[in-house]
Amino acid sequence: MINVSVNGYGTIGKRVADAIVQQPDMKLIGVSKTKPNHEAKTAVDKKYPLYVVKGAEESFSGVGFEVEGTIEEMIENSDIVVDATPSGVGFENSKLYKKFEVPAIVQGGEKEDSVECSFNARANFETSVGKKLVRVVSCNSTGIARLLTPIEERYGIDRARVTLIRRGADPGQPSKGPINDVILDPVYLPSHHGPDVKSVLPNINIDTLALKIPTTLMHVHVVNLSLNKSADKVRMCELLSKESRIHMVALREGIKGIAGLKELALDVGRPRGDLWENCVWEESISVEDKEVYLFQAIHQEADVVPENIDAIRAIMDECSCKESMDLTDRTIGMGLGR
Ligand SMILES: NC(=O)c1ccc[n+]([C@@H]2O[C@H](COP(=O)([O-])OP(=O)(O)OC[C@H]3O[C@@H](n4cnc5c(N)ncnc54)[C@H](OP(=O)(O)O)[C@@H]3O)[C@@H](O)[C@H]2O)c1
Repeated sequence: MINVSVNGYGTIGKRVADAIVQQPDMKLIGVSKTKPNHEAKTAVDKKYPLYVVKGAEESFSGVGFEVEGTIEEMIENSDIVVDATPSGVGFENSKLYKKFEVPAIVQGGEKEDSVECSFNARANFETSVGKKLVRVVSCNSTGIARLLTPIEERYGIDRARVTLIRRGADPGQPSKGPINDVILDPVYLPSHHGPDVKSVLPNINIDTLALKIPTTLMHVHVVNLSLNKSADKVRMCELLSKESRIHMVALREGIKGIAGLKELALDVGRPRGDLWENCVWEESISVEDKEVYLFQAIHQEADVVPENIDAIRAIMDECSCKESMDLTDRTIGMGLGR
């Protein structure tokens, strides 16, 4: 049994904690909070042991929350920590993990050169075996790596060009925007997203550019690939359909955008309306000899969740990539069917 704690119980951390308690080989030691807000209440209601920053105990007990101990104590009691604190805080916390000699996973907001290696289960599971500080790449890089890995294995990719149409903010971030704009984010081309994908797929020749738009729902990627070998649409669809973390959206489902996908997730009873899968529109896949075009949507709050679970098993050297991905998929309920 792997004793895991989650430091930073926000958008990503609360989802990862819920996935950890579903794993037969993991025990959730606790989650951390700095403020006694509604997320702290959710953790308490779920009976997740609550750890807080030193000195904040009274602000929690004062409003009736039972506190298990400090974040340092939580780390000390853990075999591994998933850090899901805001960008930059994870790097600061890594000094604490080193002090307690506890391996840790940080998230995509941390810099690539601040960790031993970056992780995506499908792309490079084995690279993280036995490492002490691993970064699960961002939601966008996770989605791109999942898509490109099987295509690279089958056809070889000469060049990938991806346009990222990014959600302006998460639903729980009302102070972020835009509310009436399309922002070039960043203005310079190509964007930093391509190099981030290369942190898990070093041999991929990829250029990216990115725009931010007024939605909180999901990201959309416009993908263009030049392959080394000729392909056809039927085989490309078959290849992607076999990937457990890719959902092929069929036109007959009547879903022409991200609102429809989120509605589907809610209809099938997904927790928090989460979509852990890349959603690739089958009818968008256009293949002419070695040129491929397609659209995919990525739920930014959800796709990195199964990757964090697999990263735990990789670091702890528990099992193979396939065994871990299968177990994670089965326990959380991956797959939307057709
Ligand atoms: N949201 C996304 O779309 C997304 C997708 C992929 C990756 N990521 C990455 O995941 C990481 C976390 O992002 P997020 O969106 O989950 O952020 P978030 O929603 O802001 O959650 C982070 C949580 O960390 C807590 N926190 C802040 N400082 C802390 C500290 N010193 N110790 C312990 N907890 C602390 C905060 O909770 P309290 O202070 O209230 O306790 C906050 O709720 C970032 O690296 C981000 O880039 C985010």
